[in-house]
Amino acid sequence: MHTSIVLTAATLLYTVFAAPSRLPAHHFRRCANETAINSTTPGTAPATPSCDLSGLSQPASTLQPPASDTQLVLIALGQGTQNYTCGANLTAAPSAIGAVAQLFDASCALSSDPTASTTALGTIEESAKSIGAHFFLDTTTPDFDIVGLGNTQAKKVEDCNAPSSTADVKWLRLEAQAQGSTSSVKQIYRLNTVGGLAPSSCEGKAAGDIVTVKYEAQYWIYA
Ligand SMILES: *[C@@H]1O[C@H](CO)[C@@H](O)[C@H](O)[C@H]1NC(C)=O
Ligand SMILES: *[C@@H]1O[C@H](CO)[C@@H](O)[C@H](O)[C@H]1NC(C)=O
Ligand SMILES: *[C@@H]1O[C@H](CO)[C@@H](O)[C@H](O)[C@H]1NC(C)=O
Ligand SMILES: *[C@@H]1O[C@H](CO)[C@@H](O)[C@H](O)[C@H]1NC(C)=O
Repeated sequence: MHTSIVLTAATLLYTVFAAPSRLPAHHFRRCANETAINSTTPGTAPATPSCDLSGLSQPASTLQPPASDTQLVLIALGQGTQNYTCGANLTAAPSAIGAVAQLFDASCALSSDPTASTTALGTIEESAKSIGAHFFLDTTTPDFDIVGLGNTQAKKVEDCNAPSSTADVKWLRLEAQAQGSTSSVKQIYRLNTVGGLAPSSCEGKAAGDIVTVKYEAQYWIYA
């Protein structure tokens, strides 16, 4: 049963990659309040079994656009927690130790409504099964394990402030690492974040305490 789902997904992915793609130009804006820049994103393609992503362009940001030889294969809604730990100095903010999130397929929702907010996408969770998990192998190695795509170990290569930088965790560009990856995924962007920021101090807590803060994000996944 599981194997046949994976095989079907692999077949569909093969079909997707075999299709020719055009390279439309898209307009990118800097994160938060900086001035506009223009750039180019690669052609996009349908996700695993779901919907046509070719009309979608990534939310505007200062992050370097996806590499021109990649295709958008999935947009996942992540829902979980950003985790932090308190050091000996309780006046200082806790430091990041990773995140844990369930992933849901948001490709169709965004394909039919490209500007849907992450919060609006939250209802996917009520009607769909999780398609995978996001977690950390160590404090600097995010991992994405997704049915039909495989496992991807990644490294953060760039970040920028979310438009509401005092409310939402940063937007990120991640590069897949060969080591530990079984998928053909090359790049993952964390965008349209909601929540997840660390408290400004560890007052009221003890050294070594874990602080978990709920967050949601869109993960735009390119293979
Ligand atoms: C731009 O955003 C930064 C934080 O992201 C803030 O400190 C700064 O005041 C903002 N500038 C303007 C002009 O809004
Ligand atoms: C960016 O694109 C807009 C139209 O999409 C254009 O008006 C503007 O001149 C461009 N800016 C640069 C720096 O290319
Ligand atoms: C992070 O928090 C989650 C709860 O959302 C917990 O299940 C997980 O074990 C925590 N991981 C670490 C490394 O603290
Ligand atoms: C503790 O952290 C605060 C906030 O970062 C800092 O101002 C203070 O100097 C630190 N205290 C010590 C003893 O390092």
